[in-house]
Amino acid sequence: KLNDKSIELGDDTKKGTRVKVYGRIHRLRVQKHATFITLKDGYGQLQCVLPASDLTKTYDALMFAQETSLVLFGEMKKLPAGASAPDNRELQVDYYKVIGTAPSDLDAITNRVSREQDPWDAQMLDNRHLVLRGDNASTVMKLREFVELAFIDTYRELQFRKVSPPAMVQTQVEGGSTLFKYDYYGEESYLTQSSQLYLETCLSSLGSVYCIEKSFRAEKSLTRRHLSEYTHVEAELDFIEFDDLLSHIEEMISKVVDKVLADPVASEYIKTLNPDFKKPTLPFLRMKYEDAIEWLNKQDPPILNEEGNTHVFGDDIAEAAERRMTDIINRPILLTHFPVEIKAFYMKKDPKDLRVTESVDVLMPGVGEIVGGSMRMEDYDELIAAYKKNGIGHEPYYWYTDVRKYGTSPHGGYGLGLERFLAWMANQHTVRTTSLYPRFMGRCKP
Ligand code: 4AD
Ligand code: MG
Repeated sequence: KLNDKSIELGDDTKKGTRVKVYGRIHRLRVQKHATFITLKDGYGQLQCVLPASDLTKTYDALMFAQETSLVLFGEMKKLPAGASAPDNRELQVDYYKVIGTAPSDLDAITNRVSREQDPWDAQMLDNRHLVLRGDNASTVMKLREFVELAFIDTYRELQFRKVSPPAMVQTQVEGGSTLFKYDYYGEESYLTQSSQLYLETCLSSLGSVYCIEKSFRAEKSLTRRHLSEYTHVEAELDFIEFDDLLSHIEEMISKVVDKVLADPVASEYIKTLNPDFKKPTLPFLRMKYEDAIEWLNKQDPPILNEEGNTHVFGDDIAEAAERRMTDIINRPILLTHFPVEIKAFYMKKDPKDLRVTESVDVLMPGVGEIVGGSMRMEDYDELIAAYKKNGIGHEPYYWYTDVRKYGTSPHGGYGLGLERFLAWMANQHTVRTTSLYPRFMGRCKP
């Protein structure tokens, strides 16, 4: 592995260790007296120098191009402090062998950082498998792993149990319009939109639970932050009140950020991708939906709704308006108490104001909504009425309804889009670059 720092390095007075390394050419500089290769593998980079000699005159050397894979032999030498080579060391190659050549058209694809960021660039998207080899894309993916592990760590610390609910289901969670339907041995079934309903069924046996699973949404619009398949971090908490849910969400996000920043490797990735990143201060700003509407209307000029009018109670705060709001306020917001009419059937009403729900969205600067959560209706009859009001047949939900029938409890939870969280932390313009192989309307390859 090219990040192995235990190899003894030589200098003018002593010999270094002779090693054999595998990798691919990341950068290539051919000079009169030597050829410099920055070799990379999935772990690190190593400068390799081939003296101008028989070694670089061979047929093989003419085939060197970005991504050519090779095995190289040579002595590891220390470079003077401040040299531009990774880890201030260099492999002085005395023998090599090309394993796989590569056509020389790759620079254009993998290193065009600005185009890599362009969510609408079909060439970049078709070549995602090659784009992933570039510095920027591979760093985002490496950071993604750290972030995912930080979530797992955090939940373990908070004593949540991890479960793995099914992806093939026969119930909707977030509305029929974004369901992916398919034929399940002759029965109509769906790809899950959220594991929430299943998490709720686990509370009684497992206590607070979480999962990190795929969710699927047939989103019929192309935006910076919507995918058809995304990674959903979801948790459910038993015997809580709405305020407990809000403080838990803040605490959880803050712990995850702390863990990522505390890791020397991950914090380097953040520095590269998002040098201005600062951990948000607690507590987050709390704002009720109704106050947000007023805030939007009070701006000069007012931030309008999708129809081009000022907002009235009951309007959705659409993506554009939401982003304007987060950009102006420029700190995380816990937006709470959305109207019953614009929220999902299972959300508990606020006992102090029955027009609204005990619901919350977390909005982050640059991205907007990254978390959606709520308290759940705990009363059996109220839930039955909610199915009816929302035109949902209650039969397929019998197991969900039973959560209320057999020892109900005040409980609530949330879902966080991992790709959106990463877009926030890594300062990515779109979730398309925080997903390994993004899926959205019109794209199901590579
Ligand atoms: O707000 P949503 O739809 O809430 C739920 O699914 C709840 N059932 C979750 C729960 O309470 N367990 O989705 C939650 C989060 C959003 O805030 C967003 O970050 C992400 O999931 N999300 C998407 N991310 C990428 N592409 C999409 N199409 C997304 N839809 C939602
Ligand atoms: Mg939502």
